[in-house]
Amino acid sequence: MPFYHKLGKIPHKRHTVFLQENGKIHHEQLFGTIGFDGMSSLLYHLQPPTIVKEIGNRIDLNPEIAFEKDMQMRSLKGFDVPPKDDFIESRVPVLINSDCHIVLASPKKSLRDYFYKNADADEVIFIHEGTGTLRTQLGNIPFSYGDYLVVPRGMIYQIDFDSEANRLLIIESFHPIYTPKRYRNHFGQLLEHSPFCERDFRGPEVLETFDEEGEFLVKIKKEGILYDYTYQHHPFNVAGWDGYNFPYAFSIHDFEPITGRVHLPPPIHQTFETSAFVICSFVPRLYDYHPEAIPSPYNHSNIDSDEVLYYVDGDFMSRNNIERGQITLHPGGIPHGPHPGAYERSIGKKETLELAVMIDTFKPLKLTKQALGLEFKDYYKSWLH
Ligand SMILES: [Fe+2]
Repeated sequence: MPFYHKLGKIPHKRHTVFLQENGKIHHEQLFGTIGFDGMSSLLYHLQPPTIVKEIGNRIDLNPEIAFEKDMQMRSLKGFDVPPKDDFIESRVPVLINSDCHIVLASPKKSLRDYFYKNADADEVIFIHEGTGTLRTQLGNIPFSYGDYLVVPRGMIYQIDFDSEANRLLIIESFHPIYTPKRYRNHFGQLLEHSPFCERDFRGPEVLETFDEEGEFLVKIKKEGILYDYTYQHHPFNVAGWDGYNFPYAFSIHDFEPITGRVHLPPPIHQTFETSAFVICSFVPRLYDYHPEAIPSPYNHSNIDSDEVLYYVDGDFMSRNNIERGQITLHPGGIPHGPHPGAYERSIGKKETLELAVMIDTFKPLKLTKQALGLEFKDYYKSWLH
């Protein structure tokens, strides 16, 4: 997140002696991306973060693809993903390419028995159902319905859920996740026409520091393989940190919609960007106010991107018979548009209560074998009437 944040105790000067109360030195770690060019934070550990006791099992989590090449509109019943106790086992990749994995999960239990680190990807965890606390090396972030939790790659974390009823949409991004550059000034500050401002982003506020020795299992995902690393010290042994690379939360309910006299295109809904896909938030808003406006989207040809919509809540005006947690995939190469009647039905409507997350990828997405069991059959025929 491109603004400065700090928590806990840090020395006045970086890369200098910084003693603990017991006289031992703190161990500094630069936590950054893109070599030394990306955003980074400086962490101060009680013990070095390098002391590995054991490397155990490895599990291949790479999803199997249903069709290597495919160009068919598809729809998935996201809430048919079965709840599972374990956080990692609960994660079901449904649409993937070499830039991102779109994953659904319904974990029942808190992630407390071990720690997790995704060394491949930034994770955007959208909380559709559930409340709890994201616990990380850099501090804790409480979350609730509608939050996007953005976890930078390499961040060790756990999750506390307050109940067993949790529904998550997770986007694993193999490229750094940013907010759109066009909403920032030369210094990185969000501009007045941005649909959000710095106050809407919640970084970690409570830093728990554990000075514990023993056996601490960290499951690390790298190139789709999950490795069991046992460390000698508690991974949350950071006494303080500062910098720009840290987990944060942004609520979809804090996205201020941009509206116009006639229909405005999806970029006005954009919330996050990467070099390979975008994430947009469709939120409740007043409709277009030209007296003859057609609020429904027009048919459009996203020739060179795939479009995924994840339906969260409310009526989705351009689609018929949509359920919560449903996903639609409209592949690049062919036009798509409103369902029969939706175009006409929208005329004269004043507002929408729709809530949805959209992911537009520049490379085609592939359906996984796990997603086949979630499919609405013949969705591609749903424009017939
Ligand atoms: Fe579209």
